[in-house]
Amino acid sequence: TDARITLDPAFRLGTIDRRLFGSFVEHMGRSVYTGVFEPGHPDADELGLRTDVLDLAREMGVSVVRYPGGNFVSNYRWEDGVGPRESRPTRLDLAWRSIETNEFGLAEYMAWIRRLGAEPMMAVNLGTRGIAEALELLEYCNYPGGTELSDRRIKNGDPDPYAVKLWCLGNEMDGPWQMGHRTAHEYGRIAAETGRAMHRLDNEIELVACGSSGRHMPTFGSWETTVLEQCYDQVDYISLHAYYQERDGDVASFLGSSVDMDAFIDEVVSTADAVQARTRSRKRLRLSFDEWNVWNQDRFGGEDSLDWRQAPRLIEDEYNVLDAVVVGSYLISMLGHADRVGIACQAQLANVIGPIRTEPGGPSWRQTIFYPFALTAQLARGEALRVEPDAPLIDTKAYGPVPAIAAAASYDAATGQAALFAVNRDSTNPLTLTVDLRALPGAQLRTHKVLADDDLRATNTQSHPDRVVPRELTGHVDGGTLTVTLPPASWNVLELS
Ligand code: AHR
Repeated sequence: TDARITLDPAFRLGTIDRRLFGSFVEHMGRSVYTGVFEPGHPDADELGLRTDVLDLAREMGVSVVRYPGGNFVSNYRWEDGVGPRESRPTRLDLAWRSIETNEFGLAEYMAWIRRLGAEPMMAVNLGTRGIAEALELLEYCNYPGGTELSDRRIKNGDPDPYAVKLWCLGNEMDGPWQMGHRTAHEYGRIAAETGRAMHRLDNEIELVACGSSGRHMPTFGSWETTVLEQCYDQVDYISLHAYYQERDGDVASFLGSSVDMDAFIDEVVSTADAVQARTRSRKRLRLSFDEWNVWNQDRFGGEDSLDWRQAPRLIEDEYNVLDAVVVGSYLISMLGHADRVGIACQAQLANVIGPIRTEPGGPSWRQTIFYPFALTAQLARGEALRVEPDAPLIDTKAYGPVPAIAAAASYDAATGQAALFAVNRDSTNPLTLTVDLRALPGAQLRTHKVLADDDLRATNTQSHPDRVVPRELTGHVDGGTLTVTLPPASWNVLELS
C-alpha cells in the first residue's frame, strides 16, 4: 500500500507551543513517593529528589508539569505540605483511599520543577474548598513578601516568589467520582468567581477551566457550553482529558483511536467558539489537553477497592510496543491541532501510567512510551505544518474506516529543519510513503527513526530495560520526492534538512 504527503513550509498551521510536551505528577500511588521523591535512595539529592528520575524527565524534554492532582487535589489542603517536615500532618487521601504523609509538598515540587528546568502548573482545590483557599495558595506562591502568607513562604526557606503562571481551576469537576463534584452551572459560577479573584491578586496568571473528563461523559458538550457561558471572560484555556486502551484484542481500533482524539479536540474547539460568538468576546480560547495517555482502566478495580496504604502500587501499567505506537499517534494529534491546543500533559510521569518506571531503592528505566514522547519533544520545532495525507482506509470496529496513516509535520525556519511524524496503522502490512519535498529544495533525509517490533507485546522491564528502543531506517530523496517504508504498526519520525 502507498500513502502520499506534501510538505510545504508555506502551509503553516500554528506555532508549536513547548507546553505541548507537558507531564503530570499527582499524589497518587508511587508517582511522588518512590517515584520522583525518595529520601535515602542512592540517587536522591539533599531534598530527597531522585536525580535518576530528574535526568530521565529532562531527557524526555518535559516542558511543564501539572501538580498536585488529579482527583487528589479535590480533597487536598496545600498548607499540610509546607513548613518543617516533622510538623506536617498525616492525612487520609479520599481520592485514592491512601495515606498521605505530606513529606512532599509545594516547596519540594517547586525545587523539583526548577531542577528539571520546566514550568509549574498548579491546580487549586475546588472540590472540598473554594475561593478563599485558592487565594491563600496563590498569595503564598506568588506574592513577594510583607504579608502573613508570603512571609510564611519566606520563613519556610523560599525568599523568591514561585511565580506560578498556570493554574487549573479544580480537576474533573464533571465527574461523580470527584470530591465536591458539581453541576456545570455550579462549577461555571465558582470557576468564574475564583478566576476573577485570583486575577485581582495576580493579573499575570493564566487559568484553565475544567472541561469534560472524557468525550464519553454524558454531559460532554453541554458541560463545556454551560461552564464557558459563566466563565469565558475569566479563563484562558478549557481542559480535555482522554485515556484509551486496547479492548478485547482489537488492535485495529486501538491503532485508530487518535481519530477519536482528533474529533474530541475539534468538538471542544467548536463548542468554545460558539460560546465566544454568543458572548461577543474578542478572546479566542485555547485548549489544555492536560491528561492524556494509554491506560488499561479495565485492570483498575476502582477507588473503592483501595485500602488506606501509603504509596501503594497503583495503575503501574507496563507499556508494550503497540502502546508506544498509539502514544505517538496522540502526539501527532496534538501537533495537528497546534493552532488551538496550547498545553498538553501526558498523565502521568513516573510509575502511575508513566513513561518512567522506578523501583524503591532500585533502578529507574524508560518504558516503551518514553521514546515517541522524547523524540517528538526534541524534533517538533517551530511551526506545525498542515499535511493532508492521502492514504488507503482501514476498517475499525470502534471508529469505522480510518486512514492507514496518521501524520503531522513541523518546520523550523530558524534552522531550516523539518520533521515528519507518521504512524502506520496497518498492523500487518508495511506502508510505502512518498513525500513531495518540492517546496523544500535540496532537502535530504537526515534520519528515519522508528519504533516497531515483530512482537507488539514486547515491553521494557527491570531485567530488560532496553528490550524496546527506536531503530534507524533509511530512505532516499529522488527528484524532490522522498520514499520511505513504514513498518507495520510503527511510529516514525523523519528528520529533513
Ligand atoms: O491520572 C489519573 C486520574 O485520572 C486523575 O487523578 C484524574 O484526574 C483522572 O480521572
